[in-house]
Amino acid sequence: MTDDSSKTESLAVVTASHASGKRRLQRLSPAEAALLRYEWRFWARPSQIAPKGEWGIWLLMTGRGFGKTRAGAQWVIEQAKSPGHRIAIVGRIPADGRDVMVGGESGILACSAPDFRPVYTPSQRLLKWSNGSEAKLYSSEKPEDLRGPNFHCAWIDELAKYDRAQETWDTLVMAVRLPTDPRIVVTTTPRPISIIKTLMDDPACLVTHGSIYDNRSNLSGKFFERLVKRYEGTYLGQQELEGLLITDRPGALWTREVLDKHRVRAAPDILTRVVVAIDPPATASENSSEAGIVVVGQGIDGCAYVLADGSLHGSPDTWGRQAVRLYDQFSADQIIGEVNNGGDMVGFTVKQCAEALRRDGERDSSVVPYVAVRASRGKLTRAEPVSALYTQGRVRHVGLYADLEDQLTSWVPGEASPDRLDALVWALTSLVIYGSTDVETWGGAETREQSEYVREVATRDGVWFPPSAGVH
Ligand SMILES: Nc1ncnc2c1ncn2[C@@H]1O[C@H](COP(=O)(O)OP(=O)(O)O)[C@@H](O)[C@H]1O
Ligand SMILES: [Mg+2]
Repeated sequence: MTDDSSKTESLAVVTASHASGKRRLQRLSPAEAALLRYEWRFWARPSQIAPKGEWGIWLLMTGRGFGKTRAGAQWVIEQAKSPGHRIAIVGRIPADGRDVMVGGESGILACSAPDFRPVYTPSQRLLKWSNGSEAKLYSSEKPEDLRGPNFHCAWIDELAKYDRAQETWDTLVMAVRLPTDPRIVVTTTPRPISIIKTLMDDPACLVTHGSIYDNRSNLSGKFFERLVKRYEGTYLGQQELEGLLITDRPGALWTREVLDKHRVRAAPDILTRVVVAIDPPATASENSSEAGIVVVGQGIDGCAYVLADGSLHGSPDTWGRQAVRLYDQFSADQIIGEVNNGGDMVGFTVKQCAEALRRDGERDSSVVPYVAVRASRGKLTRAEPVSALYTQGRVRHVGLYADLEDQLTSWVPGEASPDRLDALVWALTSLVIYGSTDVETWGGAETREQSEYVREVATRDGVWFPPSAGVH
């Protein structure tokens, strides 16, 4: 589609800045103002409205915060106005459908006018409108659920982040077949994966691009600044902020091809050792980076399995709790954190959070074996052998970790290394490079054989700090 970039302002902005328009807005009664709130055509920028004319697929591929989810939700509401319409709503995981596409701030419920608001039954994953239209929620975790039912149209959010993107897409396309004009709207941040490239080349697909800057006036200052600070001027920023499709970066230590080649669906039943590694944000300020939190296990085949990426943005209390919860969820052996200039802030946080979770009744004890590691070598010296493990097929990702993998494939040694990558490198260094039983080198990190001792100390002190922890 040709997107008139000179028309990026919404009618709302134009009206509010135009003197007579401003006066008219100010004279609205509260009831009129309340109704205007739900007039999407008033608020939307042209690039957020589905193109006119013939198309089977509309791919709205933009940077974060552009207003894609909002555009998708509004489009669904518009479709539901045709009585008896059947709509599929597809998210990456069930929580995305429930908490973002339907229940989120840009979701269908928040965008629905009071006189056309669907009834949502979460247990049935169903939205029902008074005119007989229905929307059902699906997730890429179970694309097979899309086999059987038929739809007039569908909305699929963040397709490029799905582990089973192709399978989900293929099943969805088969299901959207009711007459007379089956249509699918895809709203996603780009990632260079084959399904996105295929869609872009499909003559039935219209593509709209956009960047976070287009929606600047509707984003909270904190959200905008955090993202811009994080990505502006970086390679990944072209994708995350500007919505451009980038390719693997020359000089990066990881390639998507290698990550894909060794990807597996499930972890082995037996894992000899599981670690949760934390790379804390440099400061605890609002604008600080994320805490990288990655869970990795070692199989009896000698391979390492990346089990979860629980990285998040939040206070020490938030990421500390997240790490302890992941430790419990994966029955991990230890949490690993880096001792940096500020001393062992990570260990302290982990200890406090484990205690808080016990007090809250979420866990029975406040014990968490914790190992502090010290970075005495440069980033490159740590990252290079880890990336070599991938090339040798000795590290497997269980499922897809879109954000982590984007960091791996776009970081070039010499640049400040991103948080998820750092946490991953710590985890793999501890598991594979130093080996799980190499207690000398590993400064006393506990292994299962030592767990009696660990338990004793940990029970006494809450958290176990090995006597001379550190990678030397
Ligand atoms: N045209 C618009 N007018 C007003 N608010 C908007 C508009 N488009 C998006 N927003 C708001 O901007 C924020 C980000 O939108 P969202 O759809 O979640 O972005 P994305 O999915 O692209 O990350 C949400 O609060 C959303 O309601
Ligand atoms: Mg979104």
